[in-house]
Amino acid sequence: MTVDLGGGFSLRRAAADDHAAMRMVCLRTGDSGKDATGREDDPDLLGILYAVPYQVLEPDFAFVVETEGGVCGYVLGALDTPHFNQQLERDWFAPLRQQVSDPGPDQSRWRGSDWARYRIHHPELVFPPALRPYPSHGHIDLLPEAQGRGIGRQAMEILMHGLATAGSPGLFLGVSPTNRRARHFYAKLGFATLTSANLPRRTTFMARRLPSPVRDTPNRGGGRGPGRPR
Ligand SMILES: CC(C)(COP(=O)(O)OP(=O)(O)OC[C@H]1O[C@@H](n2cnc3c(N)ncnc32)[C@H](O)[C@@H]1OP(=O)(O)O)[C@@H](O)C(=O)NCCC(=O)NCCS
Repeated sequence: MTVDLGGGFSLRRAAADDHAAMRMVCLRTGDSGKDATGREDDPDLLGILYAVPYQVLEPDFAFVVETEGGVCGYVLGALDTPHFNQQLERDWFAPLRQQVSDPGPDQSRWRGSDWARYRIHHPELVFPPALRPYPSHGHIDLLPEAQGRGIGRQAMEILMHGLATAGSPGLFLGVSPTNRRARHFYAKLGFATLTSANLPRRTTFMARRLPSPVRDTPNRGGGRGPGRPR
């Protein structure tokens, strides 16, 4: 399946061969949407935490955006977050801990990518009650050359359509509070900020319901539903 996104960009399902490119995109967008290269001493850990496991554990909802020059973005989803979190702990973080040392909890001693090493040993795999209406979650990152061209909207619509078709009633995203651009983008796509005391404070959670593909056909007032792969 390949979807033409226009302007020389296309979207296809991600494969294991894309892991290096996914890690690169994650690094180059990993500082609240900006390039995190200068901050990290291990260029791979961000992608190992936040991008690659989706292709491995949820391949049906992992897509890359490509242009002539290669992969320039991805959109990733997990259908059932509590189930994904269990898999992530058992099949991803547990083996990784054998290879990465824990820098310990004293943040004043952390250097470079120590924050990511700590996260591998102490992942925040929470699913508080406020998220229950939105069991799926997603991530999207596009390199600067792919931004501002409508690609993010199309990619998110494809992900939302896939999740809705698989039966998900709702999707949430975790956004850095300082990433204003991403918050505006998600708001444009119908996501609202969740406010609940039981949500972790360091992340802004945005969520929206997904139309049931059976119940909410476009002509029956179901609102602006997610797009379909063409
Ligand atoms: C955030 C991101 C995914 C948005 O994708 P994009 O392709 O640049 O956005 P699009 O061009 O599809 O814009 C979609 C809509 O959002 C709006 N939008 C995008 N950026 C905006 C901004 N900074 N302010 C206001 N609206 C914005 C667009 O106007 C557009 O609205 P419209 O469809 O009604 O015209 C992309 O810029 C990106 O990957 N940034 C770096 C990584 C990142 O921050 N990822 C999110 C981490 S949570």
